[in-house]
Amino acid sequence: MTTIGLIGSGNIGSTVARLAVDAGYDVVLSNSRGPETLADLVRALGPRARAATAAEAAGAADLAVVTVPLKNYRQVPVEPLRGTVVIDTNNYYPDRDGHIDELDDESTTTSELLQAHLPESLVVKGFNNIYVDHLAALPRPSGDPDRSALVIAGDDADAKQTVVRFFDAIGYDALDAGALSEGWRFQRDTAAYVTPYAVPGTTYPDWTARPTGPEVLQDALAAAQRYRDM
Ligand SMILES: NC(=O)c1ccc[n+]([C@@H]2O[C@H](COP(=O)([O-])OP(=O)(O)OC[C@H]3O[C@@H](n4cnc5c(N)ncnc54)[C@H](OP(=O)(O)O)[C@@H]3O)[C@@H](O)[C@H]2O)c1
Repeated sequence: MTTIGLIGSGNIGSTVARLAVDAGYDVVLSNSRGPETLADLVRALGPRARAATAAEAAGAADLAVVTVPLKNYRQVPVEPLRGTVVIDTNNYYPDRDGHIDELDDESTTTSELLQAHLPESLVVKGFNNIYVDHLAALPRPSGDPDRSALVIAGDDADAKQTVVRFFDAIGYDALDAGALSEGWRFQRDTAAYVTPYAVPGTTYPDWTARPTGPEVLQDALAAAQRYRDM
């Protein structure tokens, strides 16, 4: 596996691209405005990076990352992602995304919505519960006592293993929260969402990154509450 295809190249997309390039992957970046608007980012990332349309990035991907505002998830190209493992970073912010009834009534989860949109892709929820600057700051080599873990959820064991190997290559351990339907346990405003990776008492924009291993995250997942119970 050599090429990471990014659908969305903003805060998270560009950061994942940087981590992937540093780990020796090729990356194909895309956004909504067109590849020419990504020229500066491609230049900064170097010869392993190029920009393309979203459909081209999807088609080139051995592993894809969908990292767009959730309201645009239906615009993610379907056909070129058939059979591809897709990491879904997206979170639901009604103020940004508008209201989505199935999420408001908690009858589904964000990643299950993306999976329904991409029925022949293998969606794995990941990268959604860490703030972008912390994602950039916390990679450590395998075995480092300060290595952090990222939480995943997904329905396909092989797809999850693909993501675990990618995380390992870019400097993170993985903690498996279970099936895609368990993704609510690390969705926005849960105990596992962003704060475990921050030094307590620090706040944005001086929100200091804190290495966070799987035990802390496991406890947070166990303490997760549904929105209706918050
Ligand atoms: N920021 C964080 O710390 C963080 C952490 C974890 C998860 N997340 C979640 O991850 C997702 C991305 O967050 P972000 O902060 O990276 O957002 P962002 O900085 O606003 O970037 C969004 C990217 O998606 C692109 N995009 C929008 N619609 C698209 C489409 N139809 N096809 C292809 N690309 C499209 C945008 O391109 P244009 O600029 O050309 O429109 C932009 O490159 C969100 O769901 C967010 O909630 C964010």
